[in-house]
Amino acid sequence: MLLIAMAIRVKTTRRKVFETDAQTRVIGVLGGRLSDEGSLLDREMNGALSAFLKKSKFKGEFGTHTIYSNEDVQVVFLGLGKRRGHTLEQVRLAGVKLAQLADSLAAREVTCENFLAARLGKKEASYALAEGLLLGGYRFDKYKGESAESKVRFVIAQGFGPAVEKAQQVAAGVYLARDLVNEPPNVLNPAELARRAEKMARAEGLEVRVLGPAEIQKMGMGAYWAVAQGSANEPRFIELVYRPKGEVKRRVALVGKGLTFDTGGYSLKPADSMKTMKGDMSGAAAVLGAMQTIARLQPPLEVRAYVAAAENMISGHAYRVDDIIRAFNGKTIEVLNTDAEGRLTLADALAYASSQEPEAIVELSTLTGSCVVALGRQIAGLFSSDEPLARELQKAAAAAGEKVWQMPMEEDYRKLLKSEVADLKNIGNRWGGSIQAALFLSEFVSVPFVHLDIAGPAFVENAADNPHGPAGGTGFGVRTLVSWLTSD
Ligand code: BES
Ligand code: ZN
Ligand code: ZN
Repeated sequence: MLLIAMAIRVKTTRRKVFETDAQTRVIGVLGGRLSDEGSLLDREMNGALSAFLKKSKFKGEFGTHTIYSNEDVQVVFLGLGKRRGHTLEQVRLAGVKLAQLADSLAAREVTCENFLAARLGKKEASYALAEGLLLGGYRFDKYKGESAESKVRFVIAQGFGPAVEKAQQVAAGVYLARDLVNEPPNVLNPAELARRAEKMARAEGLEVRVLGPAEIQKMGMGAYWAVAQGSANEPRFIELVYRPKGEVKRRVALVGKGLTFDTGGYSLKPADSMKTMKGDMSGAAAVLGAMQTIARLQPPLEVRAYVAAAENMISGHAYRVDDIIRAFNGKTIEVLNTDAEGRLTLADALAYASSQEPEAIVELSTLTGSCVVALGRQIAGLFSSDEPLARELQKAAAAAGEKVWQMPMEEDYRKLLKSEVADLKNIGNRWGGSIQAALFLSEFVSVPFVHLDIAGPAFVENAADNPHGPAGGTGFGVRTLVSWLTSD
């Protein structure tokens, strides 16, 4: 099965919290006081809630909670912090927390007030809350024998239905990305990634084309092939196209790094660094997740997606250090480190994407450990020599609640990639490695281009590093891409 069942459902009702009859109800505490919805429920319950709050030491700090219960009902008080300065991201985080809480309470039906709707807008607040609930409720437990399917239904009181539907389409894209990343690499090899892309494309009405080893070589994708040739699991080049029904306002392309496993090749990774390398296809996963959502939301753009899927392995067929290879655009590359393989697969994917002349390319990759050192686990590096496009993506990421930080494309570092024997070498020196990698990629692109290095936020070993869900694949990038492609 492609997707694990969504254990969380979110619906809206026009009624207020006190007018519903769910066993579990959630109300906000703002500036230490009951919200308006809470006060109405309190009145219905003859002041039991305000009496409880008074007795308890609950201050309502953001993200904290306390629970009142009697025989009929369980009321969760969720701290929303101070009275002012709220953001939609806080509502989203409240949703994440509630989903986790509902899990531990084994709640089945939960009515929840539309937090901060009066301040942030009914539609916007509903969207953020639903998104948070869905993102926070994700689980990857298909390989666990004892996994009990906990089903919970959330009802957002006085919520806005269409916003919740959109949140569902976006979350489904994030779920797809997370599932792809979380699949173990013995299951999700390049051929399996391609099959899942095809299955999704057919279900959503996208065009899809998949190339194998012979076609990859024939097309002249020598850099991509060099990385792929060492593995018994064949590479697959995946191309998807979304075409809108009506007028095409813009033609854009998405590219995702698709290493289903990265051992480092002959420049072998130490055991500890290899541990999360099934996540080295997170860029591809984000692109596929975003394409699924785009197909459902139908924006008036043409969107092409490209993934050069491969596995970086060791064998008698594997590429070596000192090899010189030729990319799709004719440039030659001296391989000095087989662990800098992502940029080689991307060189060909980007050059091929450029040859189709889109107006912009956005590419996502778990490209460098250096970017994780620079920005940590929660922030992606954004690289671009096109300022307007960089602004567009920054805005989209901010609206989506995904953190990106622009890094410099220092032209003076380009000389670090000069080779004595070829046009380029695939590594420079140790300093500013993520910048050198971005400069390397730019050698293969001929249209406005943004590179997002998602090595930090795409995959986390500790849930504490993922503000919007559990440990493992985070689906980082899906929401930024969707926000970029569906904003007017
Ligand atoms: N897939 C890795 C980058 C990575 C590191 C992703 C940590 C996620 C977490 C990439 O292929 C790689 O190995 N990059 C090398 C480049 C170096 C050899 C120039 C790196 O970052 O060490
Ligand atoms: Zn590598
Ligand atoms: Zn890699």
